[in-house]
Amino acid sequence: MSTLKLESATATYGGPELPAGAAVPASKNEHRSGSDDIMNALELDNVTKAYGGQEVLTGVNLQVAKGEFVVIVGPSGCGKSTLLRIIAGLDEHTSGHLRIAGALMDRVHPAKRGIAMVFQSYALYPHLNVADNMSLALKREGVPKAEIKKRLEAAAAMLSLGTLLQRRPSQLSGGQRQRVAIGRAIVRQPKLFLFDEPLSNLDAALRVNTRLEIAQLHRTLGASMIYVTHDQIEAMTLADKIVVMHAGKVQQVGAPSELYNEPTNIFVAGFIGSPKMNFIDGPAAQRHGAATLGIRPEHLRLSDEQPRWSGTVRHLEYLGADTYLFLKTPDAGELTVRVVGELGAQVVVGATVGVSPLPGKILRFNDTGERIPNDA
Ligand SMILES: Nc1ncnc2c1ncn2[C@@H]1O[C@H](COP(=O)(O)OP(=O)(O)O)[C@@H](O)[C@H]1O
Ligand SMILES: [Mg+2]
Repeated sequence: MSTLKLESATATYGGPELPAGAAVPASKNEHRSGSDDIMNALELDNVTKAYGGQEVLTGVNLQVAKGEFVVIVGPSGCGKSTLLRIIAGLDEHTSGHLRIAGALMDRVHPAKRGIAMVFQSYALYPHLNVADNMSLALKREGVPKAEIKKRLEAAAAMLSLGTLLQRRPSQLSGGQRQRVAIGRAIVRQPKLFLFDEPLSNLDAALRVNTRLEIAQLHRTLGASMIYVTHDQIEAMTLADKIVVMHAGKVQQVGAPSELYNEPTNIFVAGFIGSPKMNFIDGPAAQRHGAATLGIRPEHLRLSDEQPRWSGTVRHLEYLGADTYLFLKTPDAGELTVRVVGELGAQVVVGATVGVSPLPGKILRFNDTGERIPNDA
């Protein structure tokens, strides 16, 4: 496991420093950054990153408002960690500009950016106890002892770590370790919190719990947060604003409901929502003036009379609150149907059933995968 420590990474950072605001084009929001109240916590302006000749981030533009919880979501390898590390200053971007709280940060040392980052790997010092792990950065910055104590106690209370302060990381569960890593970020009172897949090493139940705690923490602190995950459910449940990335490019930025209801393309439509949206190609789509149709499993209904499509039940998944039905149809290919509650006894594997979409719930996509607005 590669445990990257922010402290050690910052110590080896050798990038040159530029004075804030030196000889760069004004950002689109420059006129707004005069007042502290409406200043964006972060602005990315056309940020790119290439390793060798290989571009892994392409023209990323993003604004994070003060106090906003932004989740960056996308499949593994799409560039999420690279983007976060560039914001933190642990990696240098190839071109473009980034501002934190209005100040240009392109070549500024990570320790001077006013950010704190929480990693998937926790990155705690094994030989230090919880209290020392949480206060180390403050000691290095020369924060007075009384102030460190105050911040440590407040963070420990917020994260229920009060009784664990003397323990070493090896004496903690995974969830407790991650809370210590979050506590270490909180005590620094950063302008911007960065989280890189912080729940990925936790088991499913703990993930849900810690997710709630992070949401609660965001409300309590009112802090600006950027949270990276490959898990669209984490994105949907935590975010004020979701940024969907794919292959180094931002696909869409929007509120969870916008991405769910009005995905801009097939990638976003397929990535957001579980079970995944059904896609239908061929003549069934052409009849609607589209190359591909999209219909979510929860927007299909079993129907006996004049169903739009009929097919054979290939498989059933009964989850208690609802049941997923996997159909094979001659006209629309494979379809997943989500039915609330239990199914009638006649719906078994091998049976033929009819399904129809709810009115207005079919999405249309053109041959390059962009969504065609319904009024076009
Ligand atoms: N130091 C590096 N050198 C070369 N390629 C890299 C380096 N770090 C990351 N990459 C590549 O950049 C792409 C994005 O990686 P990453 O940001 O880690 O993705 P994610 O966090 O979304 O899984 C991947 O193709 C990865 O192989
Ligand atoms: Mg990553």
